Amino acid sequence: MTNRYAVVLAAGQGTRMKSKLYKVLHPVCGKPMVQHVVDQLNTLDLQELITVVGFGAEKVQDQLGEDSHYVIQEEQLGTGHAVLQADDILADKEGTTVVVCGDTPLLTGETLQKLLDHHDSENAKATILTAHAEDPHGYGRVIRGGNGQVERIVEQKDASEEEQAIQEINTGTYCFDNAMLFDALKNVSNDNVQGEYYLPDVIEILKGQGETISAYQTPEFSESLGVNDRVALSKAEKLMKKRINEQHMRNGVTLIDPEQTYIGPDVTIGQDVVIYPGCVLEGETIIENDALVGPHSTITNCHIGTETTINQSVAKDSRIGARVQIGPFAHIRPESSLGDDVKVGNFVEVKKAAFGDGSKASHLSYIGDAEVGSGVNIGCGTITVNYDGENKHLTTIEDDAFIGCNSNLIAPVTVGKGAYVAAGSTINQDVPSEALSIARSRQTNKEGYASKMKSTKKD
Ligand code: UD1
Ligand code: CA
Repeated sequence: MTNRYAVVLAAGQGTRMKSKLYKVLHPVCGKPMVQHVVDQLNTLDLQELITVVGFGAEKVQDQLGEDSHYVIQEEQLGTGHAVLQADDILADKEGTTVVVCGDTPLLTGETLQKLLDHHDSENAKATILTAHAEDPHGYGRVIRGGNGQVERIVEQKDASEEEQAIQEINTGTYCFDNAMLFDALKNVSNDNVQGEYYLPDVIEILKGQGETISAYQTPEFSESLGVNDRVALSKAEKLMKKRINEQHMRNGVTLIDPEQTYIGPDVTIGQDVVIYPGCVLEGETIIENDALVGPHSTITNCHIGTETTINQSVAKDSRIGARVQIGPFAHIRPESSLGDDVKVGNFVEVKKAAFGDGSKASHLSYIGDAEVGSGVNIGCGTITVNYDGENKHLTTIEDDAFIGCNSNLIAPVTVGKGAYVAAGSTINQDVPSEALSIARSRQTNKEGYASKMKSTKKD
């Protein structure tokens, strides 16, 4: 099999975005555009993936990490010049090179595979991924000769009126015979309206050498959407959202209103999960069968068990078991882990805390830096006092303990198995198991005192 390489162009600043964030790092459905591109490329069998970085090089490298090798384009002199930066790594290699722009987030691995298959079956030296655009403005147009063969690509700004009427556009994705690509790039000039070295000029050069040039037209224009400004970004968001949501629905997930449901590309959702409007599901979240989410919940990097319900709540970086009830208005902060049949009710905040099976904090509590056993009942208004101004300390509540309402548990402290804490207690010493701890001043009733008070009152 021929070797395959990929070059991702991601060095531009993206002036038209008018942003301090570099263009290819703008997220679509929560994932930076360039990461979408690289993830799709990685579904192909590649020997080498190289990203050309320039503006924001460090940030792009931070994002992609080990998913790519990098070359720096110091000055952004055009897409042809950008590819040429990979010359040292690729020029002497035999094989096929795919070139993709970092600003086409909707491109799929499937389409890339079809492009490669087409390239191979046509025995072409260059194959352009093209699409039919209703509104081709801004894209390079594909110029075909009398015989229908691709001759060259002309950029919007260089196109004659007649050429501007052409609706077949260059998606900015190509595959090339690697050695020929790098040879041809050396002959690309910057003699055009923008004074840039255009990668698409390679097509005309190879054509002039009598090589076979081919085009594969994808039926999905949406895949080729290039994001140059925030209007296009919102279009990409909408299309990606539709793609993701439809896939979940086809897999057996009910989305009450898919227009108002925001699911990231790396979220996994089981069958018969129901998601109400206004939910944002992000990162590597996994939701198991028969769970119910929303309305208006934001869940980031969580594992949610089967039949769990999360209503109008926020959860991040946590594991939540089966048949758990969360919300309304609960906040599960990072590094929390809730067992099965747990309840975290309204206005309860949980942070870096583990709850064993069947434990409950139903109302108005803060449980942070805590290990809560199973079958524990945490009364309304209970607070783990975890912070002394400098350090955080652990609260341990053992199995089957009962914490009365409005208690403060001053950490580090342990409430033993099966113990009771009386309502309103401020606990700063360990409570032995099976004990009752009352830590509040005794109530004194002064009989008849009210009338005495009233008689001394001035009119
Ligand atoms: C490019 C194509 C156009 C195609 C369109 C598809 C060229 C000259 N034109 O136009 O035919 O229809 O994509 O979306 O290639 N970049 C660099 N270094 C540079 C310049 C650009 O790395 O010196 C990167 C950018 O970061 C971007 C990509 O290349 O990710 C494309 O550049 P952009 O300026 O957006 O090209 P378009 O004008 O959209
Ligand atoms: Ca572009």
